[in-house]
Amino acid sequence: MSEANEIKMGRAVTNAVDNESSPRHRWYPIKEGFSPTLVSDSLKELDESQRKSALAIEPFSGSGTAPVECTRLGVDCLGLEVNPFLAFVGRTKLRQADPEMLRCNRERVLLGLRNPVVSPLEDHSTFCEGNGKDKWLFNRNVLRTFTGGWNAIAECSSTHRDFLRLALVRATMENCNAYPDGKCLRYKRLKNYSCFNAASVIAKFEHYCDQIEEDLAAQPFTQVLSRVECMDARKLKNFEENRRFDFCVTSPPYLNSFDYSDVYRPELFLTGAVTNNQELMQIRLRTVRSHVQADWTAPVQNSFGVHYAKIIADLQTRREKLWTNRILDMVQAYFEDMESLLTTLGQRANPNALLKIAVGTSAYGGVVVPVDFILAEIAEKVGWELKDVQVVRRIRSSAQNWKHQNDDKRVPELRESLIVLRYPKY
Ligand SMILES: C[S@@+](CC[C@H](N)C(=O)[O-])C[C@H]1O[C@@H](n2cnc3c(N)ncnc32)[C@H](O)[C@@H]1O
Repeated sequence: MSEANEIKMGRAVTNAVDNESSPRHRWYPIKEGFSPTLVSDSLKELDESQRKSALAIEPFSGSGTAPVECTRLGVDCLGLEVNPFLAFVGRTKLRQADPEMLRCNRERVLLGLRNPVVSPLEDHSTFCEGNGKDKWLFNRNVLRTFTGGWNAIAECSSTHRDFLRLALVRATMENCNAYPDGKCLRYKRLKNYSCFNAASVIAKFEHYCDQIEEDLAAQPFTQVLSRVECMDARKLKNFEENRRFDFCVTSPPYLNSFDYSDVYRPELFLTGAVTNNQELMQIRLRTVRSHVQADWTAPVQNSFGVHYAKIIADLQTRREKLWTNRILDMVQAYFEDMESLLTTLGQRANPNALLKIAVGTSAYGGVVVPVDFILAEIAEKVGWELKDVQVVRRIRSSAQNWKHQNDDKRVPELRESLIVLRYPKY
């Protein structure tokens, strides 16, 4: 394992450090994203001839950081993303339109925003106030303003709709009474939420439209062959794409029991990607098994190398100290999913293809799971050549995963690493 000279306790390229300020990426940055710099720096590791015709793949596209950065640097990228809202975000960031025309269409949406419309979400769960609720996600005037604008976008030209939708969802989420915080939505600490209203949605919408227009003019994307497919990366085996890839920088869901599809519940409902909890559950079941709430099928394989064997034995001895008895299954299922994906990626790789996996370690019941080492071992087993495991960041672990059973009250340090691989193993 190599350690970069300066290992940070703070944020590193495995985090969305500069996404808020980078053109296109800033249209909808996400907390669990990585930095475009990780992608651009890694592309420099391809040799000249490889780069000329390189195809990149990103099985966990998220907000589209890799597809967008590859495209900016002239490399086609196939992105896969299971969450329909995030797939939409990634796709929209790859689109091009005339900024002047976008501005004309914006005016239509502003008319819609100024004419609020009753939202079908007003009676759904905790989306809106009423029925004695003491907390709700959106004030009624915010939801109605959103709906007025959303309906107006349907009247705009098809080339411009997605940009306007993205700006409107972002504006509405900034006017949400809660924000994503790790595995859940947390209510903002405010005396009251009256600062979120029609006027504040409109102001934010204008702001994000300005940003998009500015970036479309300053960083136009022409002849984009990159795309983002909304699909389960574990089904890549059956996916029709004749070309093999040369480059992949990716970050799978961490083994941290977070279910991000739940965190994106507001966006999924606002955009109509789901209309009820059953549909949301279908998305959750298509995600990598890194969480415990969804009732996924139990794993069957359990041979993932010596690091895995050791931590599974440790976890078993502490079974009754784990906060849910599904942790053991989840750990096994996670590596089963990742082994299957690493195998398929190998089958779809060109000789000397570069694969970098950004991942964090986890802790359960006092046992640190060295996800980076285990994935490195699995990758070698399925034919990849391990070049390095680079530690890029140290993190304090969540006390929840440690406090029940530690003998010495010490909270372990976790890390984020980059696993560097080439295909095949010679
Ligand atoms: C750590 S995030 C990736 C963030 C991305 N690198 C970025 O910069 O925005 C992991 C992503 O994997 C997605 N995901 C989880 N399971 C998946 C699956 N089976 N197939 C495709 N995507 C999946 C999640 O929805 C999430 O967006």
